[in-house]
Amino acid sequence: MDVVEELKRGLIGSKKFVPFWYKFDETGCNYYNENIQHNEYYYLHKSEKQLISENVLDLMNTVTQPFLLADLGCGTAEKTKYFIDEYLTKESTLTYMPVDICRDSVETTSRTLSETYAKRLTIDGIVGDYHTVIPKVLNYPGQKLIVWLSGLFNLPYSEQIALLSLTSQRLNDNDRLLVTFDITQEKETIENAYIDPSGFLAKVNLNVLHRLNKEMGANFDVSQYKYEDGLNMKVEFEKGEKLQLSEEGGTSYKYTENQLNILFERSNLKIVKLWKNKHCAMVLLKTS
Ligand SMILES: C[S@@+](CC[C@H](N)C(=O)[O-])C[C@H]1O[C@@H](n2cnc3c(N)ncnc32)[C@H](O)[C@@H]1O
Repeated sequence: MDVVEELKRGLIGSKKFVPFWYKFDETGCNYYNENIQHNEYYYLHKSEKQLISENVLDLMNTVTQPFLLADLGCGTAEKTKYFIDEYLTKESTLTYMPVDICRDSVETTSRTLSETYAKRLTIDGIVGDYHTVIPKVLNYPGQKLIVWLSGLFNLPYSEQIALLSLTSQRLNDNDRLLVTFDITQEKETIENAYIDPSGFLAKVNLNVLHRLNKEMGANFDVSQYKYEDGLNMKVEFEKGEKLQLSEEGGTSYKYTENQLNILFERSNLKIVKLWKNKHCAMVLLKTS
């Protein structure tokens, strides 16, 4: 991916945006981890952890073993460890493929998991954008379980369909894709999580401006949100004009089950099994 071209694309339009993935350099990932651990309003992480831990056995019984475990947007793999632990109760070894656009996440997660599981886990990480890495993951020989936790629903809708379709085209009959979704519908809960009175999320978002200053020679006064130069282009901001911190301006999709069915139909995927609690749905999918 040409990072400079992608950034320019967002900054020349009438609604200026920085792509969602640009938040996630090493600092942004650290802020994100701080947010999910300490932000009391951020309901999703706790809910997802609970849903996975309560249903991991059922899930593993639904998927034929053995397989390669790929983790799209792995982060720290905190939740993925539930799958690894359960798998290793029945099998002696597992190949794990952590995938992330943030090099530091892939390297740190690989190192930490290799210390924890030693020879029982063969780790083969890939750094890159979903569009580039999904075909590489699916080219890997053998049966696969691909998990995508807290990642897909943050992308623009057309991108979600494009990436799910790209995956479904290349899944073999016995491969499975496991995706989690935010299904929260109460406005107040959602607003609290994203307005976040405790300020953890602001650090993740403002990292975009610090990163533009550091890497692209931009000159944002972060406290004022003023942008003067960078990327060898001059971008004029009107007083009060917004810079969107993802392509569509929104932060994250909240799905109903009906909307999920439409998403899967449009991406040529079929539900094998769905688990849910108040905030989170975890869906096991196969190609249709
Ligand atoms: C919201 S975090 C979720 C991390 C982890 N899966 C979890 O559930 O805690 C999203 C992760 O996806 C990665 N990511 C974001 N956009 C990406 C892209 N376009 N390609 C690959 N990875 C991406 C980020 O670096 C980050 O680690």
